[in-house]
Amino acid sequence: MSILVTGGAGYIGSHTVRRLTALGHEVVVLDSMEYGHRDAVIEAELVEGNIADLDLVVELCTRRDVTQVVHFAAYKSVGESMEQPSRYWLNNVTGTVKLVEAMLTAGVKDIVFSSSCSVYGTPAVVPVTEDAPIQPESVYAESKATTERILHWYGVSHGLRSVSLRYFNAAGASADSRIGEDWAQSLNLIPLVMKATLGKGPAVKVFGMDYSTPDGTCIRDYIHVDDLADAHVKALDHLGAGGSSTALNVGTGRGSSVMEVINATERLTGRSVPWQVAPRRAGDPVAVYADPTRAREELGWYPEHGLDDIVASAWQWHCTHLDGYDDSP
Ligand code: WQD
Repeated sequence: MSILVTGGAGYIGSHTVRRLTALGHEVVVLDSMEYGHRDAVIEAELVEGNIADLDLVVELCTRRDVTQVVHFAAYKSVGESMEQPSRYWLNNVTGTVKLVEAMLTAGVKDIVFSSSCSVYGTPAVVPVTEDAPIQPESVYAESKATTERILHWYGVSHGLRSVSLRYFNAAGASADSRIGEDWAQSLNLIPLVMKATLGKGPAVKVFGMDYSTPDGTCIRDYIHVDDLADAHVKALDHLGAGGSSTALNVGTGRGSSVMEVINATERLTGRSVPWQVAPRRAGDPVAVYADPTRAREELGWYPEHGLDDIVASAWQWHCTHLDGYDDSP
């Protein structure tokens, strides 16, 4: 019996694979390797290929006796999705339909799906609950919201059972610094702060200091990648125990501002973080953080790490992997 992890050579995928194998699960990773890293996959078979390759997925599910799937494989750049929407519809949406068709052909009915808090757009109320309106503001976000609905309908028509995990701001790295986020591929705040602090990138541009928050900078819910990995394990357990389909926030419930991230980095690293004020970034909501109550109730999941753990582990990872993974371009 094994678990198929699509996109398991990526950032959150590789941490989830590691957590699963540490718990004794057999895991097989399917990754196109467009953005994945071979060194990120620890103690699992890595198959290079596409989720839309029906024959390959059926063969894999049969050969490895796959009983459940965790589906990460997707494009994830909001900006790119507005410039090249077809890539997102085809890979994120159509690709998932093909993956599900292959799963059903092979008799696999449990899927944990990598969704996003971006399905809420700019929430009118924070903390945001799962009952908030779904109002995507980008093609990327819409691709996630649409895929959630498609999984729902496969549940109605074919008995597929799904848990969609709506991630907030994933960050941090494994405690032993063996795997982490390749900053060559990230425009997110925490890798940019690390890059600037290590002198490997320009000063951090703080996008707006005149927001209606205590220090004037935007607030987000940074969630440690190992806590995210744990949420996937618990979602698989939930489905394995016969639990019903659901969509859940995976965040801490605590918001941190951009300046809090910078200050925590200075405190924990003993270095100063080069930063400068920049104009507001178009489309940035002032504050987004989760109400994670439902994930605790339905999965028994709760985050164990706070902002300091995120910053400290990201720092250790980036200090020891100044050029990302060895196979980075
Ligand atoms: C974080 C904060 C910026 C860069 C992303 C995805 C979204 C979802 C969550 C997955 C914001 C500020 C950033 C910089 C800055 N994930 N910032 N200077 O925009 O919250 O959302 O993660 O699906 O879809 O887009 O993340 O890391 O870009 O920004 O001041 O150079 O840092 O304004 O407040 P974001 P981010």
